[in-house]
Amino acid sequence: MDEPAILEPRRATTADGSLLVQAGRECFIETFGHLYRPEDLAAFLASAHTAESWQQTLADPELATWVVLAADGAVAGYAVAGPCKLPVAGREPRAGELRQLYLRGGYQRRGLGTRLLETALTWLEAAGHEPLYIGVWSENFGAQRLYARHGFRRVGEYLFPVGEHRDLEFILKRQAIISST
Ligand SMILES: CC(C)(COP(=O)(O)OP(=O)(O)OC[C@H]1O[C@@H](n2cnc3c(N)ncnc32)[C@H](O)[C@@H]1OP(=O)(O)O)[C@@H](O)C(=O)NCCC(=O)NCCS
Repeated sequence: MDEPAILEPRRATTADGSLLVQAGRECFIETFGHLYRPEDLAAFLASAHTAESWQQTLADPELATWVVLAADGAVAGYAVAGPCKLPVAGREPRAGELRQLYLRGGYQRRGLGTRLLETALTWLEAAGHEPLYIGVWSENFGAQRLYARHGFRRVGEYLFPVGEHRDLEFILKRQAIISST
């Protein structure tokens, strides 16, 4: 069977709110839903993926969101980047963060995550963010491999709340490459 055609990542706007609420919820449930009690999962979704939270994200000039749509209009994936808000001791004033990166199951392992990640990192650097950080679940080995290939190294960890549950997350950092010339 032919793989469905994929469009390039495009910047999302406030008009994409309802699309992203649904995609955000579905991606999180698909990837991590099995890890939590239903009430913890519901509490997380009710704060992190609502119409209001996505409107705030999309309207915030300091944040950028990209979506990748399949030819049929379904969301294949999305990414969000902006100033770093991870709990990093001595966080640098211009630190940036890849805050979310999700591909739906049927669209993984085709280079789309790499393309979305590189789009977000390029935007962060162009916006003057340095260094760059990513928080990743300690057992999300596939994502960790992707980030390692892009120069991110583990510098810390913290507990990420999902309802009453706490996930161990690694904090990854990429220092800007200083040219000697
Ligand atoms: C982690 C994630 C973003 C990676 O996205 P992706 O589109 O699968 O990434 P890529 O296709 O660019 O690379 C993933 C792997 O597929 C391989 N790959 C890429 N194109 C391929 C192709 N055409 N055929 C076979 N393999 C391919 C890559 O070499 C890479 O290999 P690795 O597993 O050894 O690292 C994606 O899997 C995802 O969204 N997962 C669920 C949510 C998640 O974990 N998000 C991260 C939260 S921090």
